[in-house]
Amino acid sequence: MWIHINDPLAEEATEKLKKALPDAKITIEHFDKDILKEKVKDFDVLIIRSATKATKEIIESGKKLKLIARAGMGLDNVDLDAAKEHNIKVINTPGANSLSVAELVVGYILSIYRHLVTGTVTLREGKWEKKKLKGYELSGKTLGIVGFGHIGKLVRKLVTGFDMEVLVFDVFEIPEEVQKEHNVKQVSFEELIKNSDIITLHVPLNEKTKHLISENEFEMMKDNVIIINAARGGVIDEKALLKYLENGKVLGAGLDVFEEEPPTSELQLKLLKHPMVVATPHIGATTKEAQRRVGLELVDKIVDIVKNM
Ligand code: MLT
Repeated sequence: MWIHINDPLAEEATEKLKKALPDAKITIEHFDKDILKEKVKDFDVLIIRSATKATKEIIESGKKLKLIARAGMGLDNVDLDAAKEHNIKVINTPGANSLSVAELVVGYILSIYRHLVTGTVTLREGKWEKKKLKGYELSGKTLGIVGFGHIGKLVRKLVTGFDMEVLVFDVFEIPEEVQKEHNVKQVSFEELIKNSDIITLHVPLNEKTKHLISENEFEMMKDNVIIINAARGGVIDEKALLKYLENGKVLGAGLDVFEEEPPTSELQLKLLKHPMVVATPHIGATTKEAQRRVGLELVDKIVDIVKNM
């Protein structure tokens, strides 16, 4: 049994895996797609995070592959149809890193409303721009959460102290008692877009959510809206976002994810240089605690499956 870890897991999780499966050959090394395509033919289990794309090509080369284990939530980097066709099981750890993502969202909101990045950058440049950096309070604002799953619910919980009205949109109907329990109001997508001061996205990327936030939606938004995307690049049309940042309708954006990662196109670099964009390199789940939870949960699942193979 050869288990290959292509994107590193928390050390504690790797140790647990080694202890639980002492006879397995366990290797850890990041191979880029061309090398992985060659190496994967000998692996029984492939462990990845978001950096590795388990494409059709990789899956088809994995002649012995029985399991792809994704440390994290999103499965958009795994060709699920190809995996199914080749009888390869795919597992992930939904929920295990949600708290870290939700905390980052709150960080983004505060960062944009209170100019934390511009304040730091201008101070470093020796400037004292106190007058230019007038911000906003969160309290009294309306937060719109698009997608009320693990992360959406945690964002709601974390902003409780800020005394905000919280609108949620979800494709599933949220029972009245659940809305009451979380103190949210489920509304239509359009209602959320039109009435929120802050919009945060928590949906996967698929055909239905690609460019979910585009020109049409920006047009409907309130002036001075801020938008946070710690879900998946591609859910926001970056070209439209730049346009509405530049014309001042959008006050600011918090971006942890991008249509292309890493972002290198001219448009993306322009977006990143906009003074009201706060951005991070897809680190929503990159905390010590989340990586520990993700790793340990994934290892438990792998061991369970491998022992029954
Ligand atoms: C996830 O899907 O779990 C997150 O995007 C985090 C990650 O993969 O790094």
